[in-house]
Amino acid sequence: MAKITLEHLSKHFGPVIAVNEIDLTIEDGEFFALLGPSGCGKTTTLRLIAGLEKPTKGRILIDEQDVTALTPRERDVAMVFQDYALYPHMTILDNIAYPLKVRGVPREERVRRVREVAQNLQIGELLDRRPGQLSGGQQQRAAVARAVVHHPRVFLFDEPLSNLDAKLRLEARAFLKHLQREVGVTSVYVTHDQAEAMALADRIAVMNHGRILQVGSPLDVYRHPRNTFVAQFLGSPPMNLIPCRLHRTADRARLVASTFELDISFLQGRLPAGARNDMPIFLGIRPEHLTPVAVGTPGAIPGEVYVVQPLGAETLVDLLVEDTSVAVRLFTDEPPAQHGTLWVLPDIHRIHLYQESGEILI
Ligand SMILES: Nc1ncnc2c1ncn2[C@@H]1O[C@H](COP(=O)(O)OP(=O)(O)O)[C@@H](O)[C@H]1O
Ligand SMILES: [Mg+2]
Repeated sequence: MAKITLEHLSKHFGPVIAVNEIDLTIEDGEFFALLGPSGCGKTTTLRLIAGLEKPTKGRILIDEQDVTALTPRERDVAMVFQDYALYPHMTILDNIAYPLKVRGVPREERVRRVREVAQNLQIGELLDRRPGQLSGGQQQRAAVARAVVHHPRVFLFDEPLSNLDAKLRLEARAFLKHLQREVGVTSVYVTHDQAEAMALADRIAVMNHGRILQVGSPLDVYRHPRNTFVAQFLGSPPMNLIPCRLHRTADRARLVASTFELDISFLQGRLPAGARNDMPIFLGIRPEHLTPVAVGTPGAIPGEVYVVQPLGAETLVDLLVEDTSVAVRLFTDEPPAQHGTLWVLPDIHRIHLYQESGEILI
């Protein structure tokens, strides 16, 4: 069991700043996700925690102990690498059993524990093979099995399910979450897949360009994104951002664009002093918070239907609002007409106002 603290952690590779002044505390027993686009510094952060990279600046603490100078073995962490890193000359059984063997667990118990984990990850039939005789997805699951077969202080996962097909991925995800709950080992899980991060983690840190932009529970970050990057990185389709302007008088506030006008006077008291009249705003609204309404309904936004995608349980409609593409998620299998104008009303209590810079206004 372990709490992990990163203090002003930075890693430079020559001119590249891979990790930029990260401050973060991961609680004991927590399932924590680092989420961000490719190249944002996720793997480097994980390798710093593992002890595979030396930080350029900053410290790493595990349970208040400064481990910055310790080797990976001394830190007692298990890492699943993106590229599996299985031992090619060993069988899958010996690969998975390896962490138990170096800890002196007797052979009979080793085999029992390997079989149990392998069964759960659906590679129980493959234990006599060597890594070269397995598909990428099978190797990935063998690597996960090797990490979780013993219970270190910390699990570190680097996109461990990325090579699995959709169905296996969901099954492996459920297994990992269940296992983590059961053994309660502090886990840091790196992914660029927002759905995976939301589904697995107790808390998520959204990263971009080596920095952490926001930390919170999945629903907190989903509901209250602090800037347009986070707003659009979480959710599929992402949050809509519709350009408009703030019109503000002493007693009224409105969002105005050429084809719609939305009264937001109820937010008047919360508008910061810097929210000046006529300032450009992005109206942020998630696809599930737009509802089709009658033509000309006050506050509704008219859009040209661009494409309708029936997905079974729901229907996705892409509208063109002025020059902006706006996604609408309808919880119905009765899609609207494929052509013409659709008027959609935003749920006024679910709107977000972002400044031109991308930072949240309200
Ligand atoms: N060993 C290295 N040498 C030079 N640059 C590196 C090295 N490792 C990572 N980088 C760079 O650091 C940045 C962050 O990389 P990485 O942590 O792998 O991102 P992610 O895992 O989020 O895709 C990238 O620009 C990458 O090219
Ligand atoms: Mg990576």
